[in-house]
Amino acid sequence: MDAKHLSVAERLLDWYDRNHRSLPWRSPPGAPPPDPYRVWLSEVMLQQTQVATVRPYFLDWTARWPSFAALAAAADADVMAAWAGLGYYARARNLLACARVVAARGALPDTEDGLRALPGIGDYTAAAIAAIAFGRRAVVVDANVERVVSRLFAIGAPLPAARPAIRAATDTITPDDRAGDFAQAMMDLGSMVCKVRGPRCLLCPLRDDCTAFRAGTPEAFPVKAAKKAKPQRFGTLFWAERDGRVLLVRRPDKGLLGGMRALPTGPWVDSDPGMEGAPFAADWRSIGLVRHGFTHFDLACTVMVADAGDEPMQGEWWPVAEIADAGLPTLFARAIAVVEGMR
Ligand code: ADE
Repeated sequence: MDAKHLSVAERLLDWYDRNHRSLPWRSPPGAPPPDPYRVWLSEVMLQQTQVATVRPYFLDWTARWPSFAALAAAADADVMAAWAGLGYYARARNLLACARVVAARGALPDTEDGLRALPGIGDYTAAAIAAIAFGRRAVVVDANVERVVSRLFAIGAPLPAARPAIRAATDTITPDDRAGDFAQAMMDLGSMVCKVRGPRCLLCPLRDDCTAFRAGTPEAFPVKAAKKAKPQRFGTLFWAERDGRVLLVRRPDKGLLGGMRALPTGPWVDSDPGMEGAPFAADWRSIGLVRHGFTHFDLACTVMVADAGDEPMQGEWWPVAEIADAGLPTLFARAIAVVEGMR
């Protein structure tokens, strides 16, 4: 590693010592690493969810399940319900599977290879945990780091094809010491200074190293390949109420939102499915529309309401006043907001 590259790490760590975000899963700069359980949990929660959203979940979660052993012993349904709002449930299922493997073997592995072998831990998460929890030198590249590095080196190839080049460039500036602080310093720089739009280059400790800054075009990086539009699908959600209770169902284990409590819904298809999937015939009224973006399609659902009248009491009739405790996924929580707005 030559002196110029070493100095990038030094300048960045010096900036981090003074400007780091204080987050509940972190140790202060230069301090011994935090509990690996907390590092693992935070990294899994942060995989596709913003820091501001994760923070309160992390605090509640660690109060309720403070260790791998405690989480491993939790009931699946409690963990799935606690996850509602954090994104895909496949991640929660992997999280629980991982906690059970770790509790059975006694500790989290402390190498990238060992970590990658666990459920729900890919290349990024393995590198982040190895660096942050175990102080190992690892090349940690998340979306923030991709942006910082593609600007620093003015990497002109579009994402995702540019990823190997970005990783190789990150490797050249990654120090042997303070690996966890360096990784988190890159994340903080990306989030607070090297922003997607309006980067604050005048505050940046790496300004003199940055090829895109010198060219006057930091916002041109990273270059992105033209995005394919997501397909639009349509559905109908059914709110059936009687005596202050609403009908909930459990979704099939396999498939989207698998195993989660939900409002009854028909198929999610290319054109409006109308009343298909209604739990019973009634005087259904449309009260609004909710939208939700899944990875592979956008969904727009009409929300229908009806009085369940004398319909037989089958399914789960949940007290409307306690609906917030049902752990419903975001799509359904949005439908509830529409129902509540109508009252
Ligand atoms: N995003 C993913 N991991 C993070 C961390 N440790 N700190 C801040 N943001 C993150």
